[in-house]
Amino acid sequence: MQPDQTVRFFGGENIPLEMHKVRVVQKLSLPPIENRLTAIQDAGYNTFLLKTRDVYLDMLTDSGTNAMSDAQQGAMMQADDAYAGSQSFERMQTAIREVFGKEYVLPVHQGRAAENILARSYIKAGNLIPMNYHFTTTKAHIDLNGGRIAELLYDEALILRSDNPFKGNMNIDKLRAVIAREGAKNIPFIRMEASTNLIGGQPFSLENLKEVRKVASEHNIFIVLDASLIGENAYFIKQREKAYQNASIGDILREMCAQADIVYFSARKVSSSRGGAICTSNKAIFDYLKVLVPLYEGFLTYGGISVREIESIAVGLYETLDESVIGQSPSFIDYLARQLDVGGVPVVMPPGGLGCHVDAMKFLPHVHQKEYPAGALTAAFYLASGARGMERGTMSSVRDENGNDVLSDVELLRLAFPRRVFTLSQTKYVEDRMKWLYSKRNLIGGLRFVEEPSVLRFFMGRLEATSDWPEKLVKAFRADFGDSL
Ligand code: F0G
Repeated sequence: MQPDQTVRFFGGENIPLEMHKVRVVQKLSLPPIENRLTAIQDAGYNTFLLKTRDVYLDMLTDSGTNAMSDAQQGAMMQADDAYAGSQSFERMQTAIREVFGKEYVLPVHQGRAAENILARSYIKAGNLIPMNYHFTTTKAHIDLNGGRIAELLYDEALILRSDNPFKGNMNIDKLRAVIAREGAKNIPFIRMEASTNLIGGQPFSLENLKEVRKVASEHNIFIVLDASLIGENAYFIKQREKAYQNASIGDILREMCAQADIVYFSARKVSSSRGGAICTSNKAIFDYLKVLVPLYEGFLTYGGISVREIESIAVGLYETLDESVIGQSPSFIDYLARQLDVGGVPVVMPPGGLGCHVDAMKFLPHVHQKEYPAGALTAAFYLASGARGMERGTMSSVRDENGNDVLSDVELLRLAFPRRVFTLSQTKYVEDRMKWLYSKRNLIGGLRFVEEPSVLRFFMGRLEATSDWPEKLVKAFRADFGDSL
């Protein structure tokens, strides 16, 4: 069966339909390529430093940028403004109990705030955290608290173009070996990330999560589930895991959460423009973690989130149970990725959640990883289209103790699809400009840092082009497109 938002056209093509209509809009403009060149130079070739007035399609992230529903906006009008004991918080707690099946809820201002509290509470110097794969902010908090990480994906997960439906799975043999080597005492928790972000939004299967649970239970180790992209992971389980094809998204979500002792999430990705939470059904865990919430976030019934956002989180959580809502961005990503793949552009396959990911090492084999191929491709694609994506590669990595770049396993340009934000003609525009850029790939060169922060450098670091390749790209664009935007 097709997902219920995809229809077959008379000509045979599968088209993802928008299962919503647009009722509030924001005007966009597409600056000419010469202005885009000035903008990206001013931004130090870092798309985080672009201003949205210079951006046509903001595909930087789906974080805090998903479209809101009328029901969410309506709920926001009824928020209960109170420092303590707010009814808005009670509604969010009820939604989490019903959707994730977890009893206790600690609100935090966003996902990384949950990571801060978990890392401070559980990680001692020298501890090891096994995980399917790291996320930037997660790793930074673990590092800061003296911990180490072990990434335990199956080797095939890093083969970017494959038909492996569950690249986010944890390798159980590797997990057992790591526990035997390190000792369970040195492992405060195992972290599983839903729709594993940095390898292209790739899901794990429920079967795999249950195997991880089994091993964790044998050794009395907690499982912490990063549920920031759990809805998409549940959607892929329904699509791709035979045993669950007739299960509802709600059943799958609860079964996923039931495997974890602690579930935390960034509500910016799940359903709102702000917020997050740490959830558990274990009262002892709740009591242990709750002391840090008033210290870093705010009182236990708001945790740094405005009551209006708390209302939108509650409604948004219920909306993720609707397949035509949670499947909207995966079906558009699927469409774009398959069009690009057929057109010969190297993309991560199978398509994942959150964005379409372009394989920069295959796109730009002539650019060495030390010159940040994913960063160069991201800047080049902004030039070609006015759409800004995000670099997910060595620029987003760190340096080792000798000052050398730790080269990333994968070099990706991520084109995020915030839920229900872009139309199919905008998606087709992205497809067209990416195909054009691929035809001009030999023109694209590398980047080097000119200002490099020591922590999370990709956010604010500034770079320059290693040659005049951006100017050459602008010339090629004019030669092919005349005076078109
Ligand atoms: N975990 C995952 C898997 C994430 O994708 C993010 C954020 C976080 C934790 C941190 O949450 O931003 O609310 O503090 N991902 C965003 C992105 C930033 O663009 O992929 P946050």
